Amino acid sequence: MKKHILVVPGDGIGQEVTAVGKQVLEKIAEKYGHEFTYDEALIGHVAIEATGNPLPDETLTKMRASDAVLFGAVGHPKYDNDPTAKVRPEQGLLKMRKELGLFANLRPIKLFDELLEASSIKPEILKGADILFFRELTGDIYFGEKGRKDDGDSAYDIAAYSKYEVERIARKAFEAARTRRKKLCSVDKANVLETSRLWREVVQAIAPEYPDVEVEHQFVDAAAMMLIKDPRRFDVVVTANLFGDILTDEASQIAGSMGMLASASVGESTGVYEPIHGSAHDITGKGVANPMASVLSAALLLDISFGLKEESDAIINAVDQVLKAGYRTRDIADSTTPAEQILNTEAIGQKILELI
Ligand code: IPM
Ligand code: MN
Repeated sequence: MKKHILVVPGDGIGQEVTAVGKQVLEKIAEKYGHEFTYDEALIGHVAIEATGNPLPDETLTKMRASDAVLFGAVGHPKYDNDPTAKVRPEQGLLKMRKELGLFANLRPIKLFDELLEASSIKPEILKGADILFFRELTGDIYFGEKGRKDDGDSAYDIAAYSKYEVERIARKAFEAARTRRKKLCSVDKANVLETSRLWREVVQAIAPEYPDVEVEHQFVDAAAMMLIKDPRRFDVVVTANLFGDILTDEASQIAGSMGMLASASVGESTGVYEPIHGSAHDITGKGVANPMASVLSAALLLDISFGLKEESDAIINAVDQVLKAGYRTRDIADSTTPAEQILNTEAIGQKILELI
């Protein structure tokens, strides 16, 4: 298969982990006889530094022209404590999502058995947890009108959804549930928010078209509690942009570490594959970041954008084998991990490559 992949490492550890994700793609191409070509582009803080723009037109053009994007992270601490900054790295990410029509963000939360002890949740509650989140990604309070009034003394962000936007993400979630344990949990705040009442109305209206899928509705506060109390009760979860952002960070603890979680953003054109973790400037440049989220993002890319299921499974299997062999990065090591089994980014990447 011939494909063109755009690599967009972005900021912080994005650079370090995406390098490993790309090596894994190269290894797969070599092993399975595919021809992948690559290009690179800038986004986020590095793009602001180089061009003044967090998403240069050139990057967007290259994204549109590629078959898939392997993405790193965006963000820089210098903006976090400067709420007045007009140009920010995250604007690049949000604009990319909107411009490419990436309305569905898939975040699979799957615990590798070897990491049962790495989570702060009790193993007997976690064992076997396997959840697939569908986070709506181009609507909600993220993209509504925002501003200041009263000479800057008050601020507002408007949350808005159309039926069309809810229906297209809900259908994707229903269809995914069909291929899994056939349970769908729609999360909203319909006891308070009008957007949530519309959300629930749409999900209820299309549910009869999927009679084989069991649907439940939960309020977001209850869902946040239930995720930790009994994660195994969830199969597919579908929710709005902001709720999905928060719940998936919480759910990452089910998988032991943020460093393990990959995501796929898909929609109207090129799919974008990225770790759910951020730029992590506290560990940037130290070479200790866990590259597995990027490696697993590469696996999602092969499966979802290219339909290469066998190749994708080979990557997941290699990660599993590395964990079974006892190798860990710092974030997933525990007090029982021997020091020589704690590897840096490059070394654990090398182990994964060998096992592919
Ligand atoms: C994510 C991130 C982004 C989001 C930030 C960096 C804007 O947290 O992808 O989950 O809030 O969507
Ligand atoms: Mn987030």
